[in-house]
Amino acid sequence: SVVDQGVKGLVDSGILKIPKFFINPPYDFNQKKTLDSDVQIPVIDLQGDHQGVVDGIKNASEKWGFFQIVNHGVPTNLMDEMIDGIRRFNEQDDEIKKQIYSRDFTKRVRFSSGFVLYQSKAANWRDILTFLMSIPDPLDPNELPSVCRDVTLEYTKHVKTLGENLFYLLSEAIGLKPDHLKKLEWAESFVLASNYYPACPQPELTLGAAKHRDPAFLTILLQDGLGGLQVLHEDQWVDVKPIPGAFVINIGDLLQIISNDKLKSIQHRVLANHVGRVSVACFLTVCLNRTMKTYGPIKELISDENRPVFRDLTTKEYIQYFNSQGDGTDGLDKLKL
Ligand code: SIN
Ligand code: FE2
Repeated sequence: SVVDQGVKGLVDSGILKIPKFFINPPYDFNQKKTLDSDVQIPVIDLQGDHQGVVDGIKNASEKWGFFQIVNHGVPTNLMDEMIDGIRRFNEQDDEIKKQIYSRDFTKRVRFSSGFVLYQSKAANWRDILTFLMSIPDPLDPNELPSVCRDVTLEYTKHVKTLGENLFYLLSEAIGLKPDHLKKLEWAESFVLASNYYPACPQPELTLGAAKHRDPAFLTILLQDGLGGLQVLHEDQWVDVKPIPGAFVINIGDLLQIISNDKLKSIQHRVLANHVGRVSVACFLTVCLNRTMKTYGPIKELISDENRPVFRDLTTKEYIQYFNSQGDGTDGLDKLKL
């Protein structure tokens, strides 16, 4: 079928017009203008003065929900090799990719297409390779596709360390001791979702990724040099310009909830393009198997002056909420007290 050979399979078959189910409702393009200027999401040098870094992350997470980081300790060549590994996987024969094609999101290694992760009104112009690296028990490395196995393992090791460092900084940014978020052990799963956005014959009619927020605590995103990711800021779409060697970091819904609305989970989308693009998103998230575990505003952030903004909710309730919110335009308002 069209779906199990991926969007790339469709392109390789030589289509000149995209199938109807990829066409996005026009409002998604017209409602909000793209900010056509030098406005940029904040860029933070992690080797800068400590208090400056914490303040920078606090500001960016409150006002944008997004920032880029440089001097983060992950070797640039490893980042490039990770992108190459994902490109290699996607550029293999369809027959090989089909072997791990699945719509079952509990599969730990899975190739899928278009619209799977998020509810939206049109399919996304992309193929996704998902690895549930630890949930929290670790994935058996032999399950990883051999074309990108070694680089994925090495990359995961480094990005895990970076994730821990970011949690220390984010704890401080919300006024807690550095190890507070880590000690909660709430972000116990580590998921890699690698996106391959094939060259599109009609990029103006579809989107690589429809607007959405991330259902995680934190996302550490590696993008190639092409660009196309946009963040909603003051009701306008702002391009996230690729910076060589940088990661894009964004706050997910769960961090907005537990920070009691201090840090913001912001909508974003990816434009389609005549040229192909690769990105690797690493989600620090909940353990999906523990559906009855509850999450809510951190006690230490609550006082008479700072009443809880969100109610506590279970993993299961949050997932149900996320899947029911359509294109994610609503924000987290429905979960507020
Ligand atoms: C996403 O947010 O789903 C993907 C981001 C990207 O590919 O840049
Ligand atoms: Fe996202």
